[in-house]
Amino acid sequence: MSWNSIILEVSSVCNLKCQGCVFTMQFGKRKLELMNLQDACRCLQLISESGLFTEVALFGYGEPMLHPDIASIVAKATELSLSSYISTNGNYKQSNSPLFDSGLNRLLFSIDGFTQETYGKFRVGGSFDWAIKNLVEVDNINKERGFPMVVEYQIIGLKHIPDEEIKRARIFCESLNRVHFKCKTTLSKKAKGRKNRKKLIKKGKINPWGTCKTPMIRYDGTVGLCCRDWNVSRGIGDLKTTPPVEILALHPRRYDPDREICVRKCPYLRESYESEISLK
Ligand SMILES: C[S@@+](CC[C@H](N)C(=O)[O-])C[C@H]1O[C@@H](n2cnc3c(N)ncnc32)[C@H](O)[C@@H]1O
Ligand code: SF4
Repeated sequence: MSWNSIILEVSSVCNLKCQGCVFTMQFGKRKLELMNLQDACRCLQLISESGLFTEVALFGYGEPMLHPDIASIVAKATELSLSSYISTNGNYKQSNSPLFDSGLNRLLFSIDGFTQETYGKFRVGGSFDWAIKNLVEVDNINKERGFPMVVEYQIIGLKHIPDEEIKRARIFCESLNRVHFKCKTTLSKKAKGRKNRKKLIKKGKINPWGTCKTPMIRYDGTVGLCCRDWNVSRGIGDLKTTPPVEILALHPRRYDPDREICVRKCPYLRESYESEISLK
């Protein structure tokens, strides 16, 4: 059985305080840490040896581009034939070329709005121009190198972002070399809510211990069933002491393909749902 994707949270540190992000909601409760290069490479090695995953997302609740060794971590994933994926706020000083040298497969820029005013409402402390500058630079290098990387511009479809700005962002992407535009519908709008979840559990339609298909290795090596278990309160092991196959394939609370639940029905969703409500 293959999960396909796993999250390796190489950074729980961030330079922004986006409204509604777990990083901000949990500020002071989660440690601020960068996983050191050696530990990150070891985790990748274990992920690869497990044979369970084809892709690794190198971000959790923090900014991965603040990690000084991010390109070396990606290079390790590439060496192990794992496809790699990064989501960034674009507010970083690192040079972009090493990301291409490392073999990164996908880079997503989270840019919520198309003016500083709108952008700054959600992306508190962030610079719209800086994010755009990095996006454009990545797009140009991508062209020079024959488009080895999938580059994306993502807007979360938040109520305060005018449709006109979403349209302008889309047109802007079309004017670039090859940048995919996506407007992510907020999880809260699609969420079915706790009542519905309880009903589904009662009917046996979902597994209360189930997970989305993306387990998460936190910055400290502890493993959660789901990316929404940010404090690993329902953790299933520690990669520092237990091999991933034992944790992920043999654990009784493993992902059960016959009782699949998607992230929209995830037990941890409610907290992020509530944070979004308070934003509006
Ligand atoms: C937690 S961030 C970490 C990576 C990076 N710092 C960034 O901002 O892209 C990962 C993704 O979560 C999204 N995100 C953060 N807060 C969210 C919220 N309240 N609802 C939906 N998506 C959210 C971000 O837009 C980003 O695409
Ligand atoms: S930049 Fe990313 S990790 Fe940081 S607060 Fe914003 S969404 Fe969260």
